[in-house]
Amino acid sequence: MTSLQYDLVLLGPTGYTGRFCADHIVQNHPTNLKWAIAGRSAAKMDPIAQELRALVPDRVQPGMKSFVMIPIFIAFFIAAFGLTQCTDVLEVQLNSAELDELAKKTKIIINCIGPYHKYSSPVVEACANNGTHYLDVTGETPWIKIMIDKYHDTAKNNGAIIIHSVGVESAPADMLAWALVKKVREDLSCNTREITSCIKEMKSSGASGGTLNTIISIFDWLPTSKLLKFTGPFSLAAGPSPKDIPRETILQKLLGARSVRDLGILTTSPNGMADMAIVYRSSTLMPEFYGKRFAFHQFLNVRNVFIGALVHVGMMVGLSLLLLPPVRWLLRKFIFAPGNGPSMQDSLNDHLEYHAVATADQQGPSPKRVFGKLTYQGSMYVYTGLLVAEAAMVILENEEKIKKVSRGGIVTTAALGQEFVDRLDQVGCRIETKVLEY
Ligand SMILES: NC(=O)c1ccc[n+]([C@@H]2O[C@H](COP(=O)([O-])OP(=O)(O)OC[C@H]3O[C@@H](n4cnc5c(N)ncnc54)[C@H](OP(=O)(O)O)[C@@H]3O)[C@@H](O)[C@H]2O)c1
Repeated sequence: MTSLQYDLVLLGPTGYTGRFCADHIVQNHPTNLKWAIAGRSAAKMDPIAQELRALVPDRVQPGMKSFVMIPIFIAFFIAAFGLTQCTDVLEVQLNSAELDELAKKTKIIINCIGPYHKYSSPVVEACANNGTHYLDVTGETPWIKIMIDKYHDTAKNNGAIIIHSVGVESAPADMLAWALVKKVREDLSCNTREITSCIKEMKSSGASGGTLNTIISIFDWLPTSKLLKFTGPFSLAAGPSPKDIPRETILQKLLGARSVRDLGILTTSPNGMADMAIVYRSSTLMPEFYGKRFAFHQFLNVRNVFIGALVHVGMMVGLSLLLLPPVRWLLRKFIFAPGNGPSMQDSLNDHLEYHAVATADQQGPSPKRVFGKLTYQGSMYVYTGLLVAEAAMVILENEEKIKKVSRGGIVTTAALGQEFVDRLDQVGCRIETKVLEY
């Protein structure tokens, strides 16, 4: 696939999310993929490498770098599985020198080390400087904004494809919107005027320690004024926002709730802002595909207006409380420790369903509409791991096409296009679209 030492390096395999990503790579990616796991502690990664081997013993697996351990492991491999080759477990500290060296060795880095604003800027910098492709699962919009301002041009000039937020935030919303825009173009031969999207159902057994620690630490990191400035729907946009976006009424602003045709009662969504910022980056990076008047809104589906208002007000109160340091201090006492999250047993019935309706940019009182649905059954963290692992394969197999479509640099999952939709379909994440005939 490439002449570099590795096709793919996974940073942070010891984390709750990184580990699911590693499992997915071992169980689903081609056996000739040259890949390694990397993190700050070899001692912590070695048992993981062994467990990964045990998952699918007949493939080339992450192995050991230590000179003492290599012969032992190769001997073990040959004895146990008849393998003659193994790739590495790489001990890497998050400094420029070591990350530069790492970035030069591999075609792509998947980074599951968070909180991202605390640790991962040097990783993005090394990838941008060395033309190494990069993927992560962050939902930290302010940090993404800083990365874009600092590294988009460098990454673009050096041929790197960098994609943030290839997790539950914000890949499903971005890919469903992309699929709807494509359907409108193909079936109705026009641009899309507007997409209203919602989480129809999200059953999750809870958030990992890493996620909750990240949310809390964002409030430690940024003052409120910057938080507000960096998290608006157009904070990541690559071009001007459309001028005539349909506005919310005062009541909708106050209560959050509204009724939307074919989608039901919708209210403010916890990941709405992050998803909107990413989708608007997609639409402004690829205006020829989305159209210059494209507007996007992300909501949460609820049973009735009363619950909608309750969710909206509850979220506003919750966010305001997070601004208070004693509240953050107290919360830290109740969350999972880093590296931990809900058990697989508890996640068995987890489920995600997005619905969205696209309105064609057509003249007349009744422009055509297209309905879209995205579904996934299983843990949201397993899902995040598979999203980012599959995105890496799309880049490895379609690098030039992605650069042409997106123009490279810091782009979004939408740049991965149909190849990503098709790969996701193979691993249980289905996206369906249909033109509404009424
Ligand atoms: N938005 C989404 O959709 C989404 C979904 C899932 C996860 N996430 C984000 O992904 C991140 C990881 O989540 P998680 O639950 O997997 O967290 P986690 O279990 O705490 O894992 C954190 C990882 O980062 C590594 N790490 C921490 N500090 C480090 C440092 N100073 N140097 C090197 N490595 C370091 C840890 O390595 P050690 O084991 O060596 O400590 C571990 O591998 C979080 O920021 C979370 O918000 C986002």
